[in-house]
Amino acid sequence: MGRSAVVAGLGAWTPPRVVTNDMLAAELDTSDEWIRTRTGIDRRHVVDPGTSTGHLATEAGRRALESAGTARVDLVVLATSTPDRPCPATAPVVAARLGLAGVGAFDVAAVCTGFVYALATAAGLIGTSVADSVLVIGADTFSTITDPADRTTRVVFGDGAGAVVLRAGDDEQPGALRGFDLGSDGNGVDLITVAAGGSEHREADADGWFRMAGAQVFAQAVRRMSESVRTSLTRVGWTGDDVDLVVPHQANVRILDACARDLGIPTERVAKNIDRVGNTVAGSIPLALADAATRGVLKPDARVVLTGFGGGLTWGSTALTWPDITAAYDD
Ligand code: ACO
Repeated sequence: MGRSAVVAGLGAWTPPRVVTNDMLAAELDTSDEWIRTRTGIDRRHVVDPGTSTGHLATEAGRRALESAGTARVDLVVLATSTPDRPCPATAPVVAARLGLAGVGAFDVAAVCTGFVYALATAAGLIGTSVADSVLVIGADTFSTITDPADRTTRVVFGDGAGAVVLRAGDDEQPGALRGFDLGSDGNGVDLITVAAGGSEHREADADGWFRMAGAQVFAQAVRRMSESVRTSLTRVGWTGDDVDLVVPHQANVRILDACARDLGIPTERVAKNIDRVGNTVAGSIPLALADAATRGVLKPDARVVLTGFGGGLTWGSTALTWPDITAAYDD
């Protein structure tokens, strides 16, 4: 037995305002039919002005702490690529709002893979006894950075957040995170990007909106998530047949179905909530977990693989046996 990070609580939150495909079709050259058949999305949640990623992260974090039955953790790690401000990180503000001022808090940026990267970071800090408990949050508000006139991105993304509490335990108990795989390829930096606003492009006319080369990214997403799941499975000694539920980043329902085919795992064993929330970036995996847990799709002792792919390019996976916890999430 070894010291390991164990999932002890799960919470998620989406802002109340719902934007349907028909509402977008009234503003953009698109249709409910195109969006549903090309992406699998029916609707998404969007923040109102004045609500930021930090608010979503706080709501999800509060619910994860409730689910874990605790008010205290040693550390807060927030995965986001839509921080409240370019500087400083958003995690300290979230920690303070949760009554946790004083604990370590920092952001992790790996776009749609952010939650897996944040889990790996937190698991490493627990494994080396830097912390005994960590609140890991994934939260994004891509509605604040997508070009309102860009039909190729605006229809895909939604705002949302999810979080888990990790506690030190042993690597054989349910909830222990195992078999991490992380990867990146910076040659694809331009495929998923906000070019301006950082230190590289400071010219006044630089494009400050989020841009994605969707079709090029599609094939990469399928290949990288499938390969990464296989690597995680090998590391924990499972086969595809052993897996009860794959919980992938909700990029596009066609990507999820293609991954399932590639892995030889029936599509019923792939968690899907993209129809109701869209692509919520770093919030995507914990939101899908909370959705599956509250609907009874995810049961204690189920063998689960989490996998993500996103900007960077980045990808990553981890595996666990699902613990007996009650998720805090009102769809
Ligand atoms: N409504 C109607 N037509 C549209 C829309 C729309 N909303 N969006 C694009 N189209 C058109 C295009 O203009 C194009 O028209 P053309 O043939 O006349 O040029 C046609 O539809 C096909 O465009 P594609 O981009 O090839 O459409 P595709 O089927 O690939 O769907 C999508 C686009 C949904 C973005 C898809 O490519 C996708 O999901 N890509 C992967 C996204 C992903 O995994 N991202 C990684 C994670 S995200 C992150 O890290 C932030």
